[in-house]
This record gives sequence, C-alpha cells and structure tokens, in this order.
Amino acid sequence: MAVKVTIRKATTKDVSAIVELWKELMDLHKAVEPFFSRSRTGHKAFADFIAKKRLASENAYVCVAAAGKDIVGYCMANIEKYPPVLQIKEAGRIENLAVTKKWRNKGIGQRLLKKVRKWFSEKGVCRIEVRVSIANKSATRFWAKMGFKPYLETVFLEI
Ligand SMILES: CC(C)(COP(=O)(O)OP(=O)(O)OC[C@H]1O[C@@H](n2cnc3c(N)ncnc32)[C@H](O)[C@@H]1OP(=O)(O)O)[C@@H](O)C(=O)NCCC(=O)NCCS
Repeated sequence: MAVKVTIRKATTKDVSAIVELWKELMDLHKAVEPFFSRSRTGHKAFADFIAKKRLASENAYVCVAAAGKDIVGYCMANIEKYPPVLQIKEAGRIENLAVTKKWRNKGIGQRLLKKVRKWFSEKGVCRIEVRVSIANKSATRFWAKMGFKPYLETVFLEI
C-alpha cells in the first residue's frame, strides 16, 4: 500500500529531520556551485536559526511533508519588509524548499508550496519571492512550472 504523505506545520520535534534535509539541499547545491559549501558547524547554526528565528516567529512559517514517521520534505518561509522607498511594503520569501531525492516528482514540492502560499495569503502577503541558484537547472524549471518569473540577477566578482 502506498504511504500517505501529510503536509503539516512543523514543530520543534521536526528540527533534526529538517536539518538532515537541509544538508541534502546544501550538498546538492555545492555539487553545482562551491559557494554553497557548508561550514563545519553550519548544521548546528541552522538548527538554532530554524528553532529560534523561524518556528518561534509569527512572521515565519515552516511546514513539513510526513510520510509515516519520516519527514521527506520541508518548506521554510518568512515575511520580509522592503525598504520604505518602494510602494510595495513586503514580500513572502520562500527561503528553503526541499524534498528528499527518493520522494521527488510525486507532487510533494507543489503541496508544500500550496501550504505556504495559503499561509502568506492569510497574512495578507500578495507577492512571493524565491532566490534560485542559476546553476540549479532542475529547481529553475520547477519554479517556472509553478508560475514564478525571474526579475533580478545577482552577480559577483572574487577579488
Ligand atoms: C524542486 C523540488 C522541491 C520539487 O519538488 P517535487 O516534489 O520533486 O516536485 P513536484 O512533484 O511537486 O512537481 C510539481 C510540478 O513541477 C514539475 N517539476 C518538478 N521538478 C521538475 C524539474 N526538475 N523539471 C521540470 N519540471 C519539474 C513536475 O513535473 C510537476 O509538474 P506537473 O504538476 O505538471 O506534474 C525538488 O525537486 C527538490 O527538493 N529538489 C532539490 C532541492 C532544490 O533544488 N530545491 C529548490 C531550491 S530553490
């Protein structure tokens, strides 16, 4: 029988499972762009950040995809203020979206996005932004499929 996947709000009990997914997300990015190499204690800093600055914040939302006892995906989002020079005041930032490899292409990423989108709507947010590595072609295709359009490019120079 197929395992039912439930999308629900994350709790502090989910932090260690989310950190494992975050490591997978980072290492996948590192393989195409060395900038994303994790620091030795990066996973600890991330665990602390998600517990204190995201799960405990009214302006942030984290949801997970649970397949039985396993957490197979997560999405972390935050409401960010724009500088007061713009007419638009804020945006919903999707900071991380990840589904573990074995569970991809089963509609879980789309369901996590739908959950976060609903939360943003309830908060009155009408624009969602995501930073996507241009080296991550697969994610670029996913976001395009979800209706997201590019509007900024970050350039860098190593000196
Ligand atoms: C990107 C990611 C979250 C998508 O999650 P997913 O559960 O695999 O995606 P879904 O099954 O929900 O796919 C939703 C739709 O997007 C499409 N899609 C998903 N991945 C795609 C890809 N690589 N290329 C083209 N289309 C893709 C699916 O075909 C599906 O379309 P459909 O509704 O017409 O069938 C997942 O692949 C992932 O975790 N990747 C690694 C981490 C990552 O890159 N995260 C994004 C960082 S910005």
